[in-house]
Amino acid sequence: MVRAWPGRPVGEILASEVSGQDGLHRIYGGVVPEIAARAHAERLDAVTEAALRGAGLTLADVDAIAVTAGPGLIGGVLAGVMFAKGLAAARGLPLWGVNHLAGHALTPRLTDPVAFPYLLLLVSGGHCQFLAVDGPDAFRRLGGTIDDAAGEAFDKVAKLLGLGQPGGPAVEAAAATGDPARFAFPRPLLDRDGCDLSFSGLKTAVRRARDKLVEARGGLSRADIADICAGFQAAVAATLAEKSRRALAAFPAATFAVAGGVAANHAIRAALADVAAGAGAAFLAPPLRLCTDNGAMIAFAAAERMAHGTPDGFGLEARPRWPLDSRAAPMLGAGKKGAKA
Ligand code: KG4
Ligand code: ZN
Repeated sequence: MVRAWPGRPVGEILASEVSGQDGLHRIYGGVVPEIAARAHAERLDAVTEAALRGAGLTLADVDAIAVTAGPGLIGGVLAGVMFAKGLAAARGLPLWGVNHLAGHALTPRLTDPVAFPYLLLLVSGGHCQFLAVDGPDAFRRLGGTIDDAAGEAFDKVAKLLGLGQPGGPAVEAAAATGDPARFAFPRPLLDRDGCDLSFSGLKTAVRRARDKLVEARGGLSRADIADICAGFQAAVAATLAEKSRRALAAFPAATFAVAGGVAANHAIRAALADVAAGAGAAFLAPPLRLCTDNGAMIAFAAAERMAHGTPDGFGLEARPRWPLDSRAAPMLGAGKKGAKA
């Protein structure tokens, strides 16, 4: 539940309910689409009620309904879109379909009076890209990952080391006591101009380091795991920092912001803050609870569009693929159904 003034930055979060599913998928070692879809369908009503209760409001106080309409696993997205259509129809409210990535990309304006345009590094579990954010509905991709997303790399490294999921917080916690200099992990794609990224080779380097230790000593000690995590995290932070420096040189915006789950990582936040300071740009990282997925950013992204756009209405479709910048060439997951990101 967000109170916002269409087209103006800084919204007021009246309630933010996040219902995670990690426990449901844990024993499978990854997200099971069918379980994810069911969990959405089963919990949406309770989560909505809790948000209304938390805000001290009823549906009669709500002016518009916003819902994530993609991109993502279609079952969960569809459950949300159908639920939102039901609410909008029952209450006669306008319905806005929001791109999940736009929710992350507009988060800096939810908390701070940031003017357009600004440079955004979007780093989540499924996406990793630099965006010039020109307006609530105007995004230009300046570069992005050619393989894994940064969060995906954290999750895979955690899995390789037997740590829990989601991997980001687990790797960050383990890295806290580790020596980042013990393993010399690669800084991928620094030899290539521009601000494209790659994390799949880094993950392979971690696997090799792990296998070598297991072969030599029959297993990994707590210190081994901590050192690998610290080295990996340092490599990700250094790579993101150097690519951010280049992105800021190409697009010298007054503000450099980071968003998405990986933006919760303290080492990465610190490295990016240094880059912004070096370029004379203001740096903005959302509070930790607004880095990872949440409904407030989706409500706010819709409010941003309300000043100029028109609601989607009941023709709104759930989209598994939905690139923010429709003009940029697809980087990953491109197929006959179109670009994933
Ligand atoms: O934005 P998000 O909640 O969901 C997606 O849209 O993907 O991001 C989730 C990703 C996961 O890959 C998770 O491991 C990563 O963000 N993440 C972190 C941290 N917290 C979450 N990565 C590094 N350090 C963290 N502290
Ligand atoms: Zn996300």
